[in-house]
Amino acid sequence: PPRFAVIGHPVSHSLSPFIHARFGRQLGIELEYVAIDAAPDNFDASLAAFAAEGGVGANITLPHKQRAAAICGNLSERARRVGVVNTLTRTATGWDGDNTDGLGLVRDLTGRHGQDLRGRKVLLLGAGGAAQGVAPALLDAGIADLFIVNRTDARTDALADALGEPDRVHPRYFNDLGSIGSFDLIINATSIARTATGELVLPGSLIAPRCDVVDLGYGDAAIPFLSWARASGADHTIDGLGMLVEQAAESFRIWHGVRPDGDAVYDELRTHES
Ligand code: ATR
Repeated sequence: PPRFAVIGHPVSHSLSPFIHARFGRQLGIELEYVAIDAAPDNFDASLAAFAAEGGVGANITLPHKQRAAAICGNLSERARRVGVVNTLTRTATGWDGDNTDGLGLVRDLTGRHGQDLRGRKVLLLGAGGAAQGVAPALLDAGIADLFIVNRTDARTDALADALGEPDRVHPRYFNDLGSIGSFDLIINATSIARTATGELVLPGSLIAPRCDVVDLGYGDAAIPFLSWARASGADHTIDGLGMLVEQAAESFRIWHGVRPDGDAVYDELRTHES
């Protein structure tokens, strides 16, 4: 069968092999999908080894999404806009790069959670790889305004510039969060919970009436932020499990030409969680 992989560091807890195996079974498509751990210095060599062993497609996760974009022969328009890639497809001469994270998030929010993103005032916390991956799709989904706040201001500005929509995209300082107003949708795209370097301490004034709050992480990593959101009066709180499944479904479509239904595997993962 054709060989696929997720390449990251750490990667042992990745759910992608499970999700892609389920999709393959659902559609009667044979495939092999493994997890490859590659330290930052080792990404290029790991990818080359994977290709030499017949690898035809790879999902790229932390911390390699930027490097993956740099090695591509061709980038999709949505990957080029922000310079991060989560899906590589082997070509005759190298790799094509795409990014399905943003579409995955939007599909989860609009499909699974029945949300209408149009006209919403959105706060994006973080400006790293995860934030870069989802920002273009949020704009494409018709949100009214995207405020970006990140601990390191230079990264906030770089992401805002890359998005190229100064009328709708507003970089703001982290220290101004208390006076920035309130939002309809708040998305945590920082890695704070994963790195255990601290906790986001945010003012409850960010939460507008009927505000929905999303953490792009899932499992334990999503608990602190979504607990804060519930305690501060958020309407719906949504973790990143649905986005994970939907970005995988879109990668699967790129590789196999058919789009699997994410609901069954999503339900299965939720059941395992509790
Ligand atoms: P990812 O691909 O998960 O986005 P990343 O590119 O390393 O990983 O980005 C991590 C994000 O979490 C960044 O927005 C980072 O802020 P900086 O750009 O200032 O580093 C944010 N982050 C991580 N730890 C943080 C902390 N303790 N407080 C605030 N932000 C934090």
